[in-house]
Amino acid sequence: MKNLGILLSGRGSNFEAIAANVNAGRIPGARIAVVISNKPDAGGIATAQKLGLPTQVIPSRGKSREEHDREIVAALRAHQVDLVCLAGYMRLLSPWFVQQYPHRILNIHPSLLPAFPGLEAQQQAFAYGVKVSGCTVHFVDEELDHGAIIVQKAVPVLDSDDEHSLALRILEQEHLAYSEAIRLVLDGSYQVVGRRLQKR
Ligand code: GAR
Repeated sequence: MKNLGILLSGRGSNFEAIAANVNAGRIPGARIAVVISNKPDAGGIATAQKLGLPTQVIPSRGKSREEHDREIVAALRAHQVDLVCLAGYMRLLSPWFVQQYPHRILNIHPSLLPAFPGLEAQQQAFAYGVKVSGCTVHFVDEELDHGAIIVQKAVPVLDSDDEHSLALRILEQEHLAYSEAIRLVLDGSYQVVGRRLQKR
């Protein structure tokens, strides 16, 4: 059994989708060991509590980035986490954190990277006028929204869209993409060669 550790800062709909898939046996060999938030009022924490999952809130205020990350990693270790899933975790990880889990930290981003990294990617894409956007699940490295890509899903931008309707359709694809990526990584039939995921 592989232990997932979920890090989130808000609503937690990606976490909820992962939890539903784990419970339905659609991510074989995985369980959610802990859900950690830097924000006490994150909706995802309330959801995790309802689901009976272990939760921990670790606020960052007044701590250096690495100090905060050391507390997070201590919590992940206490729960014997194998794979860290950032699910709307709105903090940059320190290089030290990234080095503790080589190719064992995943992130989801609401654009087709390398387009539109950073905050409000859906709004950035809509304002830019792209005809296709989507989402990306990737390994986390030391640069923002940058590591090797595991899964991408494309979403067409419709003439009738505004930034909210586009963000909603991207979110539906995020909910599929994240579990697919976790399955791929846990399955171990791929290895990372440079930036590419290659079948073994
Ligand atoms: C998701 O759209 C996720 O892709 C995005 O935050 C949202 C979290 O929603 N993440 C980023 O922008 C990271 N750069 P959720 O809390 O409902 O899963």
